[in-house]
Parts: sequence; C-alpha cells; structure tokens
Amino acid sequence: MIPDETKTERPALPQGDTGTKTVFIKSYGCQMNVYDSQRMADTLAPAGYVETSSPEGADLVILNTCHIREKAAEKVYSEIGRLRVARDERRRAGGDMQIAVAGCVAQAEGAEILRRAPAVDLVVGPQTYHRLPDLIAKARGAKKPVDTDFPVEDKFQVLPAPRREKTLARGPSAFVTVQEGCDKFCTFCVVPYTRGAETSRPVASIVAEVERLAEAGVREISLLGQNVNAYHGEGPDGRIWTLGELLHRLARIEPVTRLRYTTSHPRDMDDSLIEAHRDLPALMPYLHLPVQSGSDRILDVMNRKHTSAEYLRLIETIRHARPDMAFSSDFIVGFPGETDADFEATLRLIEDVSYVSAYSFKYSPRPGTPGAGMADQVDEAVKAERLARLQALTEGQQKAFNQASIARTMDVLFDRKGKHPGQIAGRSPYLQAVQVDADESLIGTVAPVEITTTGAWSLHGILAGSSPKPRLTGWNPIPTRESLLEL
Ligand code: 5AD
Ligand code: SF4
Repeated sequence: MIPDETKTERPALPQGDTGTKTVFIKSYGCQMNVYDSQRMADTLAPAGYVETSSPEGADLVILNTCHIREKAAEKVYSEIGRLRVARDERRRAGGDMQIAVAGCVAQAEGAEILRRAPAVDLVVGPQTYHRLPDLIAKARGAKKPVDTDFPVEDKFQVLPAPRREKTLARGPSAFVTVQEGCDKFCTFCVVPYTRGAETSRPVASIVAEVERLAEAGVREISLLGQNVNAYHGEGPDGRIWTLGELLHRLARIEPVTRLRYTTSHPRDMDDSLIEAHRDLPALMPYLHLPVQSGSDRILDVMNRKHTSAEYLRLIETIRHARPDMAFSSDFIVGFPGETDADFEATLRLIEDVSYVSAYSFKYSPRPGTPGAGMADQVDEAVKAERLARLQALTEGQQKAFNQASIARTMDVLFDRKGKHPGQIAGRSPYLQAVQVDADESLIGTVAPVEITTTGAWSLHGILAGSSPKPRLTGWNPIPTRESLLEL
C-alpha cells in the first residue's frame, strides 16, 4: 500500500522535446507487454528519449503493467512507492522524473490509479501508447492525462519503426503482435475487458514488419495475440486470412528460419493451422495450448467451450500432422467449486498429454469477472497444496523431456552470450535453453548441436560440426508414461 501523498510543488521543467532524455520501461506479465514496451521505446525515440537499464536517473519511467492476477496488479503499486522515493531525491537535486502507468492495469483502473497513487503523472492504455509523446507533454500541464481509449486509428499504422541498430540490439528473436483482444470470456479472465474485442492486423502490415526484422538480422519471429489462432486479418486479396494462411505467407520471407505463435485457444485450432504444422519446416514443433483444467465440469463453469476428451483428440490430431510436436499449457488450480475429484482429473490429463513445460497458477478472483462472484471459493491452503502436486508432476515431465534430449542433435538459435566465458546460449526448437562452448560470432545463427548433459533448467551441448547426426524431425520426443515411471 502506498502512503497517501500530499500535493508536491513541481519545479518548472524545460519545455519542448529537444535534447536527449532517458526512459526506463519495466514490463510485467505477458510477451505482448514486452513487445508493447519495445514499441513504446520506438515511439519515444524521435522525441529524443534513449532507453536506460535502471529507473535511477531516468527522466521518464513507464510501468507496463499486467492485470491477470491480483499479485501482478498489486506489484505496480509497490513499485510506484519505490519510484516516488527516487523521484523525490531527484527533485531535491534539482531534476525530475515523470512516472507513467501503461498496460492492462492502466486500462482496467484508469483514473483510479491517480487517486490511489498521486505520484503517477499519466495513465495510458494498450491501444493508445502511440500517443505517448503528446501525453508526456500534457502531463507537464495542470491536468494529468488518462488515455484508455479504444481509438479508431490503428496504432500499428502510426508507430515508427525502430532504427536497424536498435532491432539488431534486441537480438535474433523478435515478437510481432498480429492479433489483440479476446471474445471467449472465460469466467476467470480479465483479458476480454482489458484488451477488448478481437481485432487482427492486416496481412500486409505484418509482412512489412517481418520483412524489416528479417532484413535487420532477425531469424525467429513469434506471432503474438491474446487469442492468436483466432486471427482473421484482411489479406492483400481482400479476403479474410486465417493464421495458417498468414504463416504460409511469412514462411516465404527469407532468411527467417523459425516461426512460432502464442497464445492459442483449443477451439480455434483450425485445419489450415494444423496443415501449417504439417507443411512448414520453419514452424517450430512446439505449441502452447492452454487447457486450464482436466475436469469437464470445471471446464464448463470456466466457459472454455470444450471437454477434456476434445482437447486430447486435438492433441492427437496435431501430433499426427507433426509427430515431433511438443506441448505446453496453462493450468489454474482452485477454481470455485473445484473438488478433489476435479483436481485428480487435471492430473490425469497432464499424464495423458505429457507436457514439456507448463505454467500453473492458483485461481485469483478478478474484479468484474463472473468467477469472482461464484459460490464455493476454494481455500487458499487447498489451492497451495494442489499447486505443489501439479507442479511436481509437470516439472517431472519437463525433466524427463530434457533427459530424453541427451545424445540427440537439434538445431539451436544462438541469441546471447552463455553463463561462462567462451560459452554462447540459445534455444532448441522446443524452447529449451542450450549452452554451448562456441565462438560469439555464431550468435544470431542456427546451428546443429549435440546435447551432452542437462542441468536444472538448461541443456549443454557441443556443436555438431560438419557431420551432424540425424535431425529431430520424425523422432517423437514426448516421454511416455513408462519412461516417466522409470525416473
Ligand atoms: N487466476 C489465476 N490464473 C489466471 N489466468 C488468467 N486469469 C487467471 C486468474 N483469474 C491464467 C490462465 C491463463 C494465463 C495467462 O493466466 O491460466 O491462461
Ligand atoms: Fe482469457 Fe484466454 Fe479465456 Fe480469452 S481465451 S478469456 S484471454 S483465458
């Protein structure tokens, strides 16, 4: 909780947007926020703002917030409290710091943020951050701006592209938002309220962005959307394209070698997308396909619009199209009314699928969502106990998957220096972190690596050189229930 702030006299600031200023942007939550933060930096660059890696000494601090669970939303207020102390110190030294709240807490709480945390200078939602330079100027006036519109103009048409060096500095793997919003209305989720109705970017706008990234050296593109596989964007032929069609088009852009997309809803995995997995070698054999629960009763109350059997059939169909496919999922434990039997059904589904990674959460009632008002809220201690059991199972599966990777050769996209001198690090097709003794000049390229050992969270390997062993394609790396029992 932030102590109430009395009105502070603000020193006069130099007017105009000339000269270099620094901005520190902190991202909370999902990958789309990471992407939005980059685009905020792009939008501020022409106004003279250079990014800095810490809030101390920054002229502008933007908190790009997440509203998905209570903990995430509350973090923002404690961070504002810390920033206020730093800002007051700067003021005493004759400087200043503007504080902006962006993202989903901004969208959900709007002007309420200014009441609860008067240190904040401006509030901007996810659809209007292209207006940041203007809002920053307004924030120096008498009235602090709150802009949480869903505007008619498309921010992607207005946002400036980053300079080539900036793209290079962000590394060989890039996010590109293709879809925003969600029409599914799962009863636990705030996203349909914070990010609004589903909208999709036109194909031409996405192709232009991916071509620019590829030209600057990006080798992996992750397409982002709150419900990305519901993509229905206008194609250059005037038709509405599906995500499968978009992926086919993007796979023709050279030299992008890897494509991914996240996050998907099981109901929107259509034939064209499954065919893309079958036909496009660039589309990585890893899919984040959240199921949330394995109990049909809970899935129904969550309004997920499918049963556990339908989900399992879908997994089978995708594996049939691409046998080396690996899956990850999100799970919520302790949704209102979840019994021991419901929870056991979730554990059974996890055993049936065998995930290579998983994200699991205790249910957090969110204001304005139907779940928050439901009877039979589950006790926190029960949630904690279920979460621990679920995570023990999914972590075991992840370890088994990593173990099964030993002695295999798989392509790694090197994206950074490694933990130790002389090492570089990258990602396997299944998003496993891989450390290799190799020259830094390989960063930004894909090379075959023979996996030799596994650590707690990463793999180690050696460059497979000129005579690589057969690639993973065709090999089914999913550990079976039997192999898990052996561990
Ligand atoms: N409580 C707990 N977890 C939630 N998620 C979304 N809303 C809630 C909530 N109210 C989880 C879901 C979703 C992921 C992004 O966050 O598992 O897939
Ligand atoms: Fe939230 Fe995803 Fe459900 Fe949409 S599909 S309401 S984003 S959990």
